[in-house]
Amino acid sequence: MERILVCGGAGYIGSHMVRRLLDEGFDVTVFDSFETGHREAVPRGVEVFEGTLNDPGDVRRALKAKSFDAVFHFAARIQVGESVGHPSLYYGNNVAGTLNLLRAMVERGIGKFVFSSSAAVYGTPLEIPIREDHPLAPINPYGWTKRMVEQILADFWRAYGLASVSLRYFNACGADPQGRIGESHDPETHLIPNILKSALSKSPGPVTVFGDDYPTPDGTCVRDYVHVCDLAEAHLNALESIWNAPGARAYNLGNGLGFSVKEVLAAAERVLGMNIGYRVAPRREGDPAYLVADSTLAMRELHWRPRFASLEEILETALRWHRRPRY
Ligand code: NAD
Ligand code: UFG
Repeated sequence: MERILVCGGAGYIGSHMVRRLLDEGFDVTVFDSFETGHREAVPRGVEVFEGTLNDPGDVRRALKAKSFDAVFHFAARIQVGESVGHPSLYYGNNVAGTLNLLRAMVERGIGKFVFSSSAAVYGTPLEIPIREDHPLAPINPYGWTKRMVEQILADFWRAYGLASVSLRYFNACGADPQGRIGESHDPETHLIPNILKSALSKSPGPVTVFGDDYPTPDGTCVRDYVHVCDLAEAHLNALESIWNAPGARAYNLGNGLGFSVKEVLAAAERVLGMNIGYRVAPRREGDPAYLVADSTLAMRELHWRPRFASLEEILETALRWHRRPRY
């Protein structure tokens, strides 16, 4: 049985990964600082190391716990706006913290790594849909941290033989179809949870739409929404691909379908069967008009097929969680 360390396994995407790994029969250990993660998101019985990537001692202790076959790395600070105001926090946590982890992996001879990268590595796209060979030109420190780690991974492969796959997620969304875990960030900045929280609150207020003057058909930003369970699936495929052909590669993960903010609102109205009010606010700093993935490479090389392609289906799973959030 393969032993996997999941860094950030108490967070939104990491906790879905943990469930999937358990379902597949892997031996799973979680490493998390619980800064933004939730203890309740980790199933009972899973070994948890509380510690921070910022402390090399914490990282070494966790890696010594077992002879891990691979590390899945979700732990990061994730707010684009915050990264602009606090770059030190982002480079410290996302780059220096990851470097601590990678150094400890090399020390321990653990040679397989799957990294949560982001569409933010592309910055403002020159072409849509975005392919992996699009220039990497982040426009905020968060995106730079992802790009820097991808570079470190390429160099660690060449120098130390540490094999990796960087998965560039587009907009992660949805929740465990059984409603056991879901998205819970504080503050919540993501569109879908904000719409659902607003619609389900006792005194529903309008959803804030950041900008309706973008060069898109309805003036609101277009994004590629990809289900969190499809992201988890891609990690399993990525692990298999490292086993079969080690290297340092990066793949886009998206559905290839673009939905505007107003289209997401309309889909949420259909799923909820109610009107959802919104108010238009100024553009949010650093939001590109369009982000849509070309995931052909992941489909071809990782044999990945997103199962949740319909926005309604994605929203239904998110809604199941938001009706009864447990944390
Ligand atoms: P999250 O905040 O829910 O989870 C991150 C987890 O990492 C939390 O449990 C947190 O406590 C832990 N963590 C953070 N810093 C740590 C540290 N220094 N040491 C130990 N643990 C630490 O975030 P998420 O939405 O699940 O995102 C997971 C990953 O996916 C991140 O790397 C993020 O950049 C990437 N990503 C997310 C999205 C998205 O739409 N949510 C899109 C692209 C990429
Ligand atoms: N939006 C609103 N109102 C809200 C929240 C968001 O109008 O309350 C809009 C945003 O302006 C954006 C779209 O909805 O146009 C999607 O915003 P999200 O915050 O849900 O997601 P982002 O596209 O900003 O961010 C995601 C990931 C980041 C990643 C980024 C680019 O969360 O990690 O994609 O890849 F950096």
